[in-house]
Amino acid sequence: MVDGEPRPWLPSPSPAMDEITFKSDTVLSDVHLHTPNQRHLMVRLSGVGQPVFLSQFKLLWNQASQTDSGAEGGNHRAHHAEVTSPARSSCSSEGVSLQAGADATSQEGMAAQLDEDGDLDVVRRPRAASPSKPLGPPRDKVHPMILTQEEDDVLGDEARESGPYDVIKIEHTMATPLEDVGKQVWRGALFLADYILSQRDLFQGRTVLELGAGTGLASILAATVAQTVYCTDVGADLLAMCQRNIALNSHLTAAGGGVIKVKELDWLKDDLCTDPEVPFSWSEEDISDLYGHTTILLAAEVFYDDDLTDALFKTLSRLAHRLKNASTAILSVEKRLNFTLRHLEVTCEAYDHFRSCLRRLEELTGGRLRFAVEPVDASFPQLLVYERIQQLELWKVFVEPVTEPIVSADTAS
Ligand SMILES: C[S@@+](CC[C@H](N)C(=O)[O-])C[C@H]1O[C@@H](n2cnc3c(N)ncnc32)[C@H](O)[C@@H]1O
Repeated sequence: MVDGEPRPWLPSPSPAMDEITFKSDTVLSDVHLHTPNQRHLMVRLSGVGQPVFLSQFKLLWNQASQTDSGAEGGNHRAHHAEVTSPARSSCSSEGVSLQAGADATSQEGMAAQLDEDGDLDVVRRPRAASPSKPLGPPRDKVHPMILTQEEDDVLGDEARESGPYDVIKIEHTMATPLEDVGKQVWRGALFLADYILSQRDLFQGRTVLELGAGTGLASILAATVAQTVYCTDVGADLLAMCQRNIALNSHLTAAGGGVIKVKELDWLKDDLCTDPEVPFSWSEEDISDLYGHTTILLAAEVFYDDDLTDALFKTLSRLAHRLKNASTAILSVEKRLNFTLRHLEVTCEAYDHFRSCLRRLEELTGGRLRFAVEPVDASFPQLLVYERIQQLELWKVFVEPVTEPIVSADTAS
C-alpha cells in the first residue's frame, strides 16, 4: 500500500501518460516496484482509467535444458541469457525499498546515498534463495515497454534482441484497488511458472485448471506443455485482459498444440455459469471435459484474504469431488510479514490461515477422498526473471479416492 502524494525524489514524468497518482487504497505490484521510473510508461488506460502496461519477462530456457529430463524442450531455441550486472539496483526481500530515481548504484554489497532532500536512500543487496545457496541464475530487470501502433515494434529493442520464444509478454496494471489485484503480475505466479517449466514431464499432455489466474501468466506457460488449460478468474474486464495475453503469446503455446480456455470460475459460487449470454461462461462440453480429464489444479497468490482463502479451499474440495480422476493441486503463496498494531509484533496472519486450511483439509475423514499435503522443495531452477525471495512457497495437495481395504473371504469369516 502507498500513500497518495508523489514522492519528491521521483524524476518529473515526461509524457503526460506517465503521470500516475496513487490513492490511499492502491495496491502496488511488487514485481515492478523497483524498476526505473522512466521506463514505467503505460500503453493505454483501461475502461476504469487504470494505466495498463506491457511487460516482457525473459525466459531462460538454457537453464531448463540443463535440468530438464528432456521432454519437449526442443521447441524452444537454446538461449544464453546475458549476464548483466544491472546498472540500477533493486531490492525487496521483505517489501522494504528505498531508491533514488536517477543514479546508478552498484549491487555489490550495501550501498547508501542521499536523495535530493538529504534523506538516506538505502539499497539492500538481494538475498540468495537460501542462506546456503548462491543467488542463482543471472537476473536482469523487467521493464514495461511502450506498446506502439506498429505491430512488429511492440516490444522495443530488448525484445528484438531476444527471439520470440525467449520472452512472455504480459499486459497488466501496476497499481490497482484491492478488487483489481488480478490485473497485476505477482511473484507467486512467476514462482509457480518456474515450477511448471522445470517440471515439464508432470504437465505433459495434461488437462489443467488454474484458479484465480489473474493475467494468465502461469496458465500460458502451463499450456506450452499441457494439452488443455482452463484459465479461470472472475470479472469480464480481467478475463478479457487474460485473453489478450494469451493471444500475445500464442507462438509460445502453438508449438506444443496446447489450448487455453479462459472461463469465469467464482469461488463464491457453487456452480459454473453456463449462460451463453454471459462472457466467459462454460459450455456443457467444456464442463464435461473439465471434470472428465483435469488432473492438475493450480493457484498462485490467492491467499491474502481469509474469507477468500476459505472460499478457495471450499472450491478445491468441491472440484476434487467432481473430477473423475485423482488430482494434484499446486499452490504458491508468499509469506507476507506485517507489523500489526493489534499484536504489536510482526505476524503473517493470511499465511497462517492458509496453513490452517491445509491442515484442515488433511484431517478430513469419512469422505470418499483423501487429501495429502506436502511442501515442495523450492530449489527448482529459476527460469524467469524476478526476485526469488525466501518467503515464496509452493505446496502440493494430493487428492485420491479412499480405497476400502480388501477383505478376503478367509479373513472375513
Ligand atoms: C493476487 S491476485 C493473483 C493473480 C495471479 N494468480 C497471479 O499470481 O498473478 C488474486 C486473484 O484471485 C482472484 N479472485 C479473487 N476473488 C475471487 C473469486 N471469488 N473467485 C475467483 N477468483 C477470485 C482475483 O481476481 C485475482 O486474479
